[in-house]
Amino acid sequence: MTSSGPLQTDAKVANPNDLPMRVAAVYDRVIGASLARAWENVLDWEHLPHLHSSSFSSLELEDAGSWGWRALTKGIPEETSPETRIELVVDRENSRYVSRTLEGGLPGMEIWTHFSKRADRETQIRVEFHIPHVDEEGAQKLGSLMTGLYEILWDEDERMMVERQAALDAKGTKEGTSTTIDLGTVEELTRSLPKTIQIDDDTVNIVNIDGTFHAYRAECPHMLAPLAGVPVDNDGCITCPWHGYRFDIRTGNVTNGKGLTLSPAFKVAVTEHQRAVISRA
Ligand code: FES
Ligand SMILES: [Fe+2]
Repeated sequence: MTSSGPLQTDAKVANPNDLPMRVAAVYDRVIGASLARAWENVLDWEHLPHLHSSSFSSLELEDAGSWGWRALTKGIPEETSPETRIELVVDRENSRYVSRTLEGGLPGMEIWTHFSKRADRETQIRVEFHIPHVDEEGAQKLGSLMTGLYEILWDEDERMMVERQAALDAKGTKEGTSTTIDLGTVEELTRSLPKTIQIDDDTVNIVNIDGTFHAYRAECPHMLAPLAGVPVDNDGCITCPWHGYRFDIRTGNVTNGKGLTLSPAFKVAVTEHQRAVISRA
């Protein structure tokens, strides 16, 4: 996709369309993540319908770049939600960004989010909801609705950022010394699957697909989401909860066109005495 930038003229200015706007609510919170993680999250449009699947049912990207992104989105439930064109524009200089509704539900609404660093792993967030064409009462209602929604969205985002930071911190420090580990008899292992085990510093998922054991590192190769407990579907695939990349466990290949491979770091073998053993691949 060639990035051409925002459609909104004067996108970094508050209320460039000169609409009758009210600040319906202000939401303040501190998250346990660095500014780097917070900015990464802002430009990460892909996570909306997956990590935030209770708020967004779909997203179709129109344009993206270091300036921000624009997409057609739908809320929940999908059938009755209006298609809404959102444009998110970053104003790094002033440590803020605006998410503006261009079309669909509440057109002209601007949600301004300001970041400031509190500590290396702590960011102060202030969100202002600017809503056009509402009276005082309407603004109050919408304000408390938006604040409730943002509480959930930021809870989900914070969890992802904290987990991603922990995975980044652990990268390069992992030690892998174990050679071969006994998993019990084939029968015992089969009965206990699917399961997640720890091998040295690695978390490993073991599953049985059509009578064959498969083991893989329980970490998504995209942005390191933890994959422990993510169920295998009827086609032998798992879908990452952060951005929806779907991996075929038998090949490790991604099935929805993203060009990544699940780490084939481990393999399960069966000994001549019908015991299952796992070792590094
Ligand atoms: S971390 Fe992005 S799809 Fe898994
Ligand atoms: Fe998010």
